[in-house]
Amino acid sequence: MSNSSSLKKVLVTGGLGYIGSHVVVSLLLTGKYLPIVIDNCHNAYPEAIKRCAEIARDEMGADAPQPIFHQVDLRDSSAVDEVFAKYAGEGGIWAVVHLAALKAVGESGEIPLQYYKVNVGGSIALLEAMEKYNCSNFVFSSSATVYGTPKTVPIPESSPLQAESAYGRTKQMVEVILQDVCRASADKGDKAVHAVSVRYFNPAGAHPSGKLGEEPMGKPGNLLPLLAQIAVGRQKSDLKVFGDDYPTPDGTCVRDYLHVMDLAKGHVLALDAIASKSIFASCTSAEGMYRAFNLGKGKGMSVLNMIAAMKKASGFEYKYEIVGRRLGDVPDLTADPTLAEKELGFVAEKNLDEMCRDLWNFQTKNGDGYSKQ
Ligand code: WQD
Repeated sequence: MSNSSSLKKVLVTGGLGYIGSHVVVSLLLTGKYLPIVIDNCHNAYPEAIKRCAEIARDEMGADAPQPIFHQVDLRDSSAVDEVFAKYAGEGGIWAVVHLAALKAVGESGEIPLQYYKVNVGGSIALLEAMEKYNCSNFVFSSSATVYGTPKTVPIPESSPLQAESAYGRTKQMVEVILQDVCRASADKGDKAVHAVSVRYFNPAGAHPSGKLGEEPMGKPGNLLPLLAQIAVGRQKSDLKVFGDDYPTPDGTCVRDYLHVMDLAKGHVLALDAIASKSIFASCTSAEGMYRAFNLGKGKGMSVLNMIAAMKKASGFEYKYEIVGRRLGDVPDLTADPTLAEKELGFVAEKNLDEMCRDLWNFQTKNGDGYSKQ
């Protein structure tokens, strides 16, 4: 195994989180990248980094590269600066994968200023530090929610950005900021920022080992972790379905669920594409070295479909109440995944049964999750 000093250092913000921790594992397993995680532990546990290291050792052997963790809040610009300075002498941080954000569609409508401060303010602080330390490779965790209610489904990347939730608008704003930063730096040689926004559809599942999964603090806001926690008795079984009067086959919202390990793979492919510059050939200096890709499966599943799928995986008989629509929800977010497949080589291969099986395996193996570790 190559020793860590020869690996490209990749700063992963929010790397303790659900997506972030799976990205950290995927980076480690490439043998090319060394993840350096910063996270403020607002919605994640330090235990996650130990699990990532354990999985790397399980799969690569005792001398597997080990991830590095610094508890840092992106809004603390001096702390962020210290992290970049710390690695400046060792060749510096080669790229940033930026996942740290507040991410609940419904909640964002209740506390929008918090969402703008963290998601937009935090991204600007990070980009300033990158500029200061000549780090010019960036993968941004964007979201399908930037499309709002799209005119066509499945949704291509060319669909207008018209987010309908504060959360989605923060992601849309950061994409716009990124394009301006790429445009402004396009003629600056090795200081030209090369950025890729990966627009997540709905991540689901957990690492197949059961050692890593979705462990939000408190009651999950998202459907799948909530279903898993209800089935193991961690949450009361007062499941509410937010609306069945949408223009969809069964009236409930449709989302494009993809396995979190496939989603994590998409980040590695985006970094590889930045390294090879393969995807920027069509970019002009007037536009800047910026691309955006959907990371989805291209298969829409409704809320009721997902309840049935989790019943099949867990054996739990869910009871639910149909209530009013949730602020910010849109009827159908299903990806057209063809551009990411063509240009990144990205395919979300795992199926719904694997997503639900791995989610259930994680939940049953981690009764109280990471919180009690
Ligand atoms: C899915 C559907 C709800 C809970 C998530 C992330 C967001 C983004 C996209 C990355 C919706 C319904 C939910 C419940 C319900 N990911 N639901 N009862 O809103 O699509 O967003 O994926 O950027 O960050 O939050 O996912 O799981 O919250 O909702 O009926 O108790 O399930 O209304 O239709 P969402 P979700």
